Amino acid sequence: MTYDLRGKKVLVTGASVGIGAALAKGFAERGAVVGICARREDKLAEVLAHLKQHSPDSRSWAVDLADLDGLAPFAAKVVDELGGVDVLVNNAGIPKRRKVMALTPEVVESTMAINYFSPIRLTLALLPQLVERKGRIVNISSIAARLGPPGEAAYSATKAALTAWSESMQVDLTLADTGVLVHVVNPGIIDTDLFSLPDNDAPPPSIEALPVETMVQPVVDQLDSGLFELYVPEYLGEVAKNKAADTGAFLQSTIAWSRANNPA
Ligand SMILES: NC(=O)c1ccc[n+]([C@@H]2O[C@H](COP(=O)([O-])OP(=O)(O)OC[C@H]3O[C@@H](n4cnc5c(N)ncnc54)[C@H](OP(=O)(O)O)[C@@H]3O)[C@@H](O)[C@H]2O)c1
Repeated sequence: MTYDLRGKKVLVTGASVGIGAALAKGFAERGAVVGICARREDKLAEVLAHLKQHSPDSRSWAVDLADLDGLAPFAAKVVDELGGVDVLVNNAGIPKRRKVMALTPEVVESTMAINYFSPIRLTLALLPQLVERKGRIVNISSIAARLGPPGEAAYSATKAALTAWSESMQVDLTLADTGVLVHVVNPGIIDTDLFSLPDNDAPPPSIEALPVETMVQPVVDQLDSGLFELYVPEYLGEVAKNKAADTGAFLQSTIAWSRANNPA
């Protein structure tokens, strides 16, 4: 199977910086017409200038994706102004590094709103369009969805929800013979602003972050192959398998590792 991106209409959320910007550029460089959105207009303008060098019909919209009631009208606007959507990349997201004892229901729920309810609203609003075009849905989840790292209960749960949703959605869409493929992407640690945003605990020590460009070719290959779940870097898939084989033992190792690396 191959997936020819030339002329495809691709919407990437959260593409003002970071992984979303890198993916948007990668798609435009391969001939896709790319729509990008996020809140910061100045950052979007920088990315759009790059997109237009490769794909002049690319577009951008400044939008707060946490405004859930605005998402259906936004989806309609994108379909209208981009001329359709073949690929939806649900990438926008926020971190939440905070120990569970310090979490409040409001923080948990607002993290869920942007990382889970928002991509789901957008997906549902665009689903008729994606079915009509036998499209693709790429959900940027996280290795946190599979491993539940320390200090990230609120964040991990949002990503686990997105992954579980993706699994069931793929089954439903296949049983209904829609031809729509769903893809889950689990980045490990990628060098973006995610680790320096305010209102979060410090990231774990001694983490080695990969450059954002590392994400692009694996996701393009994933569209080509139809692979459901991608890990970047790939070895994290093995770690997730080991965890699934004995979750209790994995939690004990996580506790021991955390004690050794973050002495109180
Ligand atoms: N970096 C990693 O190591 C890593 C690992 C696993 C998973 N991920 C996931 O990868 C995705 C991208 O993260 P990143 O690392 O590239 O982080 P980032 O550099 O902080 O980028 C996040 C993007 O989401 C947008 N965004 C956040 N809140 C938004 C809102 N309310 N409305 C509209 N846009 C919003 C931001 O744009 P504005 O601020 O301009 O709105 C930005 O473009 C996220 O879903 C993240 O959870 C990242």
